Amino acid sequence: MSEEKTDQYMKPHGVEGIQVIESMNEEHQEISEFAFECVDFNENANILDIGCGGGVNIEKFLKATKGNVDGLDYSDVSVRESIKRNQDSVDSGRCNVIQANVANMPIEDESYDLATAFSTIFFWPDLGESFKEVFRILKPNGQFMMANGIDGTNPADEELADNIEGINLHTPDELEEYLLEAGFKSVEMFKKDNTFISVIIAKK
Ligand SMILES: C[S@@+](CC[C@H](N)C(=O)[O-])C[C@H]1O[C@@H](n2cnc3c(N)ncnc32)[C@H](O)[C@@H]1O
Repeated sequence: MSEEKTDQYMKPHGVEGIQVIESMNEEHQEISEFAFECVDFNENANILDIGCGGGVNIEKFLKATKGNVDGLDYSDVSVRESIKRNQDSVDSGRCNVIQANVANMPIEDESYDLATAFSTIFFWPDLGESFKEVFRILKPNGQFMMANGIDGTNPADEELADNIEGINLHTPDELEEYLLEAGFKSVEMFKKDNTFISVIIAKK
């Protein structure tokens, strides 16, 4: 185990957390672009981005729907950065960024049409229970979309796991099993050619 493991990806904090968020905003662009190609949603969809980090995907969804786009993250730095980035929509009431753990979201049942998770599920506690919590806050026929740049099948993933605190790698097949157990009716998988970028869409 390396002594240099960083916990900044699991939960950004302090000044270094702000820097890590800025770099993720850039580095995760390709994942985000592919995810937007894969997911379909209604023009009035209400969306929740879980583990929203710097709020870049909140910003994109605000342009893509007329509905509300909220963010949720347990890091105070992520919440602050997401609000800063989307300040106009926060002020106008179209965006609310909540500080909470995905395992226990202070959100009513059946609130959202789409929940998204970009490069964050590796850090979630008890994936099965967390997926059930996402299922709970989705409306009937709602969807849950996950976009990841690592899928546990790349030999290089192990090195990442040695350097990043709290990361748990799951293959797409394992994720599908957890999703079906959580109650989702169907699971669709997309893989970007010649990359390890994957998008999984589960329907309620
Ligand atoms: C690697 S960053 C990804 C940020 C952003 N989604 C992106 O694509 O750039 C992971 C984010 O998920 C958040 N996160 C991790 N585990 C969480 C949990 N259990 N509940 C809420 N947020 C969590 C972290 O605080 C961090 O902001």
